[in-house]
Amino acid sequence: MKQHLNSPVFRAISEIADNCDKEVYVIGGFVRDIVLNRPTTDIDVVVVGSGIELAQQVAKKLGGVKVSVFRNFGTAMFKYRGLDVEFVGARKESYQRNSRKPIVEDGTLKDDQNRRDFTINALALSLNKKTFGKLLDPFNGMKDLEEGIIRTPQDPMVTFSDDPLRMLRAVRFATQLRFRIEEKTFEGIIAQKERLKIVSMERVSEELNKILMADKPSIGFKLLEKTGLLPMILPELHDLKGVEKINGIGHKDNFYHTLEVLDQLVLHSDDLWLRWAALLHDIAKPRTKRFDPNQGWTFHAHNHVGMKMVPKIFKRLRLPQNDKMKFVQKMVELHMRPIVLSEDEVTDSAVRRLLFEAGDDIDSLMTLCEADITSRNEVKVRKFLRNFKIVRQKLKEIEEKDRIRNFQPPVSGEEIMKTFGLPPCRTVGEIKSAIKEAILEGEIHNDYEEARVFMLKKGKELGLESFEF
Ligand code: CTP
Repeated sequence: MKQHLNSPVFRAISEIADNCDKEVYVIGGFVRDIVLNRPTTDIDVVVVGSGIELAQQVAKKLGGVKVSVFRNFGTAMFKYRGLDVEFVGARKESYQRNSRKPIVEDGTLKDDQNRRDFTINALALSLNKKTFGKLLDPFNGMKDLEEGIIRTPQDPMVTFSDDPLRMLRAVRFATQLRFRIEEKTFEGIIAQKERLKIVSMERVSEELNKILMADKPSIGFKLLEKTGLLPMILPELHDLKGVEKINGIGHKDNFYHTLEVLDQLVLHSDDLWLRWAALLHDIAKPRTKRFDPNQGWTFHAHNHVGMKMVPKIFKRLRLPQNDKMKFVQKMVELHMRPIVLSEDEVTDSAVRRLLFEAGDDIDSLMTLCEADITSRNEVKVRKFLRNFKIVRQKLKEIEEKDRIRNFQPPVSGEEIMKTFGLPPCRTVGEIKSAIKEAILEGEIHNDYEEARVFMLKKGKELGLESFEF
């Protein structure tokens, strides 16, 4: 372990702690990630005594780095050569029932390890000179790390009741590290799930984002479902679960389908918001589900209804209400377009319309759409993928020719008004959109001269007199 403690920060901490006769340890995620060989820059230091004082002295020794002190929490931190180093006094904590804010008392290292979330996050390495690098592992966290187990150090009922966010952290770590949640810990989550209500939505979505950014997010969402946490966070996603049958005809289970899409997408994109779009792409299926004796199950306009559901979900989860959300909405709304297109003959005008609506997000849309193919029928899958290739090729050709992606009207409203001596009015808009339609339909190219000739012709049709200049 010692070789991981060679930053000057550790040497400085060691020296100062020894000088003032204090026990000091590096603890938690940093130690865990050394063992797992995961890169980490967050260092948590626990001192039996005042964390703030130690931080200030260490910072001074390191040449006067700036320390941020949080007196209310008894913590202090500084940044040093790309590392975030946080200092805290060893604590014994008890929690109030309705809040995640603990009542803190000074404690020993063991007390401090005991109040932590999981055995794998309670490992400590001594930084005092005599015992430098010695591992202190009272709960067999090392064994759990080796065996891939998430387990609470105390009775899970206590650990989760103390801080219910830990239930989500358990699911998140299980997803990121591909670990198993130990049975009693798992049961503890089920028993304490209602306590999640006291956790702020910001913290909930932070964990959801981390699950989404994992290599296989379905693990996390399946665990959220199995523990009963999902309906409390994303009831709309939970509603996708299940298969209904009428006259012996069933539809696919849209919860598992969604998770398959998400896992497939993750292989091709590390964009968090595209991952959100994959998670929500079929979110309106339960609301739009109908059984038609001739057609079987239909989910008419689920893309459109789904697009409208996104802002409410994002607001509840305190996710951004800005262009990120609009991007997710756009993806949900358009997610069927490339596939519908590839089912028919791929016409130029259909491709132009798709380019026009998707704009710069066309590549993301194609990635989502390809991930949406989860059929078990290999012949069908091969056909879709072949057609997708054609769509992609056409998208490229047409974009090169007509530059639709960032469509700017080739003739401005100003020029239309000037040409026909019109004030700002509906007719101007009508001519403008007729030009756009002519371009999308392929009647004219996306070109100023052709658009101007078309505008004059359109004006004539509308009985307008043109003032050539
Ligand atoms: N911790 C805890 N309960 C929490 C949050 C954190 O007991 N709800 C403890 C754990 O010992 C954890 C340490 O505080 O290792 C640091 O927390 P944090 O930086 O949030 O997490 P990491 O474990 O470092 O992991 P990550 O950075 O991936 O969140």
